Amino acid sequence: MLDTVLLWIEKNRSLWMHDLKQWLAIPSVSAKPEHEGDMNAAAEWAAFYLRGAGLEATLVKTARHPCVLATTPDGLCPPDAPHILFYGHYDVQPAEPLELWTSPPFSPTVRDGKIFARGASDDKGQVFCHLAALNAWKQIAYELPVRLTVLLEGEEEIGSPNLRSVITENAERLASARTIIISDSSQFASGVPAITTGLRGLVYYQLTVTGANTDLHSGIYGGAVANAANALCKMLGQLHDSQGRVTVPGFYDQVQVPEQALRTAWKALPFDERQFAVELAVPELAGETGYTTLERRWCRPTLDINGLTSGYQGAGAKTVLPATAAAKVSMRLVPNQDAIMIAEAFEKHIAQLTPPGVRVMLERLSASPAALTPTDSPAIAAATEACLVGMGKKPVLVREGGSIPVVTWFKEILGLDAVLLGFGLPDDNLHAPNEKLDVECFYAGIRTAAALYDRLARRIR
Ligand code: BES
Ligand code: MN
Ligand code: MN
Repeated sequence: MLDTVLLWIEKNRSLWMHDLKQWLAIPSVSAKPEHEGDMNAAAEWAAFYLRGAGLEATLVKTARHPCVLATTPDGLCPPDAPHILFYGHYDVQPAEPLELWTSPPFSPTVRDGKIFARGASDDKGQVFCHLAALNAWKQIAYELPVRLTVLLEGEEEIGSPNLRSVITENAERLASARTIIISDSSQFASGVPAITTGLRGLVYYQLTVTGANTDLHSGIYGGAVANAANALCKMLGQLHDSQGRVTVPGFYDQVQVPEQALRTAWKALPFDERQFAVELAVPELAGETGYTTLERRWCRPTLDINGLTSGYQGAGAKTVLPATAAAKVSMRLVPNQDAIMIAEAFEKHIAQLTPPGVRVMLERLSASPAALTPTDSPAIAAATEACLVGMGKKPVLVREGGSIPVVTWFKEILGLDAVLLGFGLPDDNLHAPNEKLDVECFYAGIRTAAALYDRLARRIR
């Protein structure tokens, strides 16, 4: 039956593309209040599409953006089929700066064999591969190979503030799942599919420094009253040492050192550091001394400034002592680091670094730990076979530096492991201008998803 489903998928290429474009055209930007209507429209669109595959789909209201929750009704799958949970997100990052896009972010455009749009790869495009595969199964086989629950979130890009409660409230319905499938990562390289077995965690802060109650003339007051921008820069400048290590006391205490065998396996992956630097147009790569680029991204924690604001930003000169200065600072965490302990250590460190004459306010925006998933399980075996069918190659096992907070919560609340099987490529420009998904990756993703449910039904009993 899978062969017929795959044929049907190939025959309907233009239909899938048409439908994906429709979804991508809805600007489901979760961070911006003015897109509330679009968030609902994008959720409704997904629910509608899931109904096309025979599922019962509803929107679950949250304090902010709804989730889509869908399940196979009796009769849509064999009675003894294993229960699988698919998770994805339909929200996207803001598209700014708009002037750097070649075609508008919410006018999906195919160019040079790639579909360009915000969300093309992260994550609507990849989620849609599953939606299309399910529709194909329904149309050809009149049933799905597995009992399925689909949970699509509208707040992943803002740290999933309400997802925990959605999972807790639906725990009974979700907990009978045998595994979770997520396509929100990427292949290792073009032609090298990957299963991601680890993600970094994330602790995120808004840091605000306040000096005087108003901006001041830098000639009249300069040198006698603290400058908030000077103070902030001085603090931020002390957060790394000369070896690129983070100076927060205790930051590395719990860091798990990967086994030598794993580090050796990573060295065998087809990754060229020089090529990586060339692609990014940087004069050289930079990071913690003593680690390869993949290690720096996959198993070492970091601290980064994500935003920085203070003082005069216009043309020409303005002589002023800024009254406030602000930074967004985040830390990527690796296995065994406790997110709350790191957060508290950071807060203490910042307090100690605060120079005289200013006040510092810290607002914790999110805190989630790293996640590790099994490298060997029936679900991984099924995903491996699915890659062979859909992409013609066996996947490599990798980790990723990004974060998907819900992976830890699924484990904590439901006791379930996730299989992270991405269809996009590392150069898809996630969160950046000109986000894209290669058209061939898109169709391969649909084939792989179709094969995955077939293999899960056989492997998980
Ligand atoms: N899909 C990404 C995470 C990702 C990217 C995993 C690349 C693997 C490879 C996800 O949508 C994302 O961007 N997550 C945020 C975290 C969130 C709390 C805002 C991130 O990693 O910055
Ligand atoms: Mn994502
Ligand atoms: Mn993202």
